[in-house]
Amino acid sequence: MAAAARGGPVPGGEKRILCVGLVCLDIISVVEAYPPEDSDTRCISQRWQRGGNASNSCTVLALLGAPCSFMGSLATGHAADFVLADLRHYGVDVGHVVPQPTSCLPTSIVIASASQGTRTILHACGNLPDVTARDFEQVDLSQYKWIHWEARNAAEQAVMMQRVEQHNRARPPEDRIRTSVELEKPREELLLLMGLGDVVFISKDLAQHFGYRSAPEALQGLRSRVQPGATLICAWAEKGADAIGPGGELVHSDAFPPETLVDTLGAGDTFNAAVIFALSAGKTLQDAITFGCRIAGRKCGIQGFDGIV
Ligand code: ADP
Ligand code: FRU
Repeated sequence: MAAAARGGPVPGGEKRILCVGLVCLDIISVVEAYPPEDSDTRCISQRWQRGGNASNSCTVLALLGAPCSFMGSLATGHAADFVLADLRHYGVDVGHVVPQPTSCLPTSIVIASASQGTRTILHACGNLPDVTARDFEQVDLSQYKWIHWEARNAAEQAVMMQRVEQHNRARPPEDRIRTSVELEKPREELLLLMGLGDVVFISKDLAQHFGYRSAPEALQGLRSRVQPGATLICAWAEKGADAIGPGGELVHSDAFPPETLVDTLGAGDTFNAAVIFALSAGKTLQDAITFGCRIAGRKCGIQGFDGIV
């Protein structure tokens, strides 16, 4: 593959944001109301959409105008061609996609309730192995200003993050890569990554799994797990988001509810991307989470992502 296609330099010298994680196919059935079990329902509409947290965050970063790259495994076949073409369509660099010719593309069946705005996800992860620390060695770190991981294969991802830490140690602050990690799934083995990123996003799901009833409570309870100087952020659906900054300062943003709640699939991925976009542009933590909630709120008012900006 040509150097330019592998996350090569952006014309004008601007550095990119890299998101490492999942790309999958979402088959979305929009229904008036969530159906009873064993019923036969006619959908309002049905569509294929590229999904996966890191892939969705790349869509949002691209729509916000940030040069970005996606790194993740990709199976072969018609559905995989669809998601790859869609990443390219949004201008997301795919030079670090790792082909897995013998695997199936993970797929989600999503039931989206038009009346409630809920999304019920049935995810089949298939047999697709995640990208490894070895794959990550191919990444030319000098091209990136920010690298974000969707927590998945934590032990491998920890090695990737340590590589970036080592890279940073030899550089002046202005040349360092900032790192973030999203812990969404309440799986014990992912917790190790909380101690590694500059910015750690935890989901409402994970916070509730630990018994916390609000974002501020979760931040207070989990802050000792992040490294000194790191930022911990917790989004909480219609309650907005809270964060605790490097000096221990607490910030909050209310949500920005759309006039009509249409589609919440990928709201969290949108929030994460918008926060990363703002922080990487030098905004304060307060401004960044407010921007995250504003863009995520817009997303909730439309189907898909086109129209968030
Ligand atoms: P996910 O479940 O996709 O991980 P969250 O529920 O944590 O996402 O929401 C992420 C952000 O999206 C919230 O901080 C909020 O700004 C916005 N959001 C989500 N649901 C709603 C909603 N019902 N109304 C308004 N904003 C919402
Ligand atoms: C939304 C999402 C979907 C995907 C599922 C995977 O956050 O990334 O696009 O089907 O989560 O867990």
